[in-house]
Amino acid sequence: MAGNSIGRIFRLSTFGESHGAALGGVIDGCPAGLELDLEAVQSELDRRKPGQSAIVTQRKEPDKVRFLSGIFEGRTTGTSIGFIIENTNQKSKDYTHIKDSYRPSHADYVYDQKYGFRDYRGGGRSSARETAVRVVAGAIAKQLLGTMHITAWVSAVGDLELKTTYEALDFSTIEANIVRCPDVEMAQKMEERIREVRKAGDTIGGVVSCVIKNVPVGLGEPVFDKLHASLGSAMLSINAVKGFEYGSGFAGSRMLGSAHNDAYHSDGSTKTNFSGGIQGGISNGMDIYFRVAFKPVATLIQEYETIDKNGNIIQMQGKGRHDPCVVPRAVPIVEAMAALCMMDFSLLARTNRL
Ligand SMILES: Cc1cc2nc3c(=O)[nH]c(=O)nc-3n(C[C@H](O)[C@H](O)[C@H](O)COP(=O)(O)O)c2cc1C
Repeated sequence: MAGNSIGRIFRLSTFGESHGAALGGVIDGCPAGLELDLEAVQSELDRRKPGQSAIVTQRKEPDKVRFLSGIFEGRTTGTSIGFIIENTNQKSKDYTHIKDSYRPSHADYVYDQKYGFRDYRGGGRSSARETAVRVVAGAIAKQLLGTMHITAWVSAVGDLELKTTYEALDFSTIEANIVRCPDVEMAQKMEERIREVRKAGDTIGGVVSCVIKNVPVGLGEPVFDKLHASLGSAMLSINAVKGFEYGSGFAGSRMLGSAHNDAYHSDGSTKTNFSGGIQGGISNGMDIYFRVAFKPVATLIQEYETIDKNGNIIQMQGKGRHDPCVVPRAVPIVEAMAALCMMDFSLLARTNRL
């Protein structure tokens, strides 16, 4: 299976399945000498882990990361950093009912058709458990990014949408509620909505917004490795992501150029930031901000119609432990993917000029 790696210099490769022995990763290209805060890495993982609140999947996994290489006396050695996260709470029996059938809008059908058979337990490699590995690598990248700071939050659940611009939000409140929305009233409404949806055995989508501050000018490689193209690719590689927009995004297409152009201050910063901190694929020093849309995920705890391996239309009953809404757990994943991307471009930028 190809496609298990991301990044050119700071490069992460991941392995493992939802119900296998462990998930894990190998990071190549991490510079030597970084004093790693391993507790900070684990706490990022804790923000993603299942079972953390009543509105996420109740699979109980400790999700403890164990480093196998590349770190000596608390510092990175410059060699490959290998690590694993063991799976300890698999309930593979929950999945025998989908062994010979396909959950609509999940990856079951395409995996079977592409590879000839599949590890159906927990979705195998298509499971979002793989993103735990990304969060570990992203937490290491965050520590290398220095003053560059990445913050993500939930800005929509279904049609409940936070309209406030990010400058007006108090980011210190993001972790204060289980939805990870930095608006207490809205967070309450979102939580209620997710609880209702869960009770009905249904799922609901949402949006994770993200801002990257203190970005130096000059990150991004024309022409195919533009910064926003790579960020988009990283975000769209997250399970259940259906959309990515940065800066003015789709709304910008409804504006006139005279309103949309970001006029300069004399120091090169801009008075507005419809560009979202990126012009010509290169960071311009302004905040980079973007939004990532997540679908209502496939697994319903309801009766649904589907087909079996032989193409017969069948009725199935959804079961197991699933996320009614993935955005609260997706917040650290979005941050991790942004960190991996920005770290890779930071290292690449060292080749910009003599
Ligand atoms: C944090 C997170 C948790 C997820 N949990 C579930 C889940 O419980 N049930 C489910 O059907 N899909 C879940 N997904 C999404 C599936 O992994 C994804 O829909 C599936 O692999 C098919 O890929 P696609 O939706 O990107 O096409 C989750 C995604 C994320 C990011």
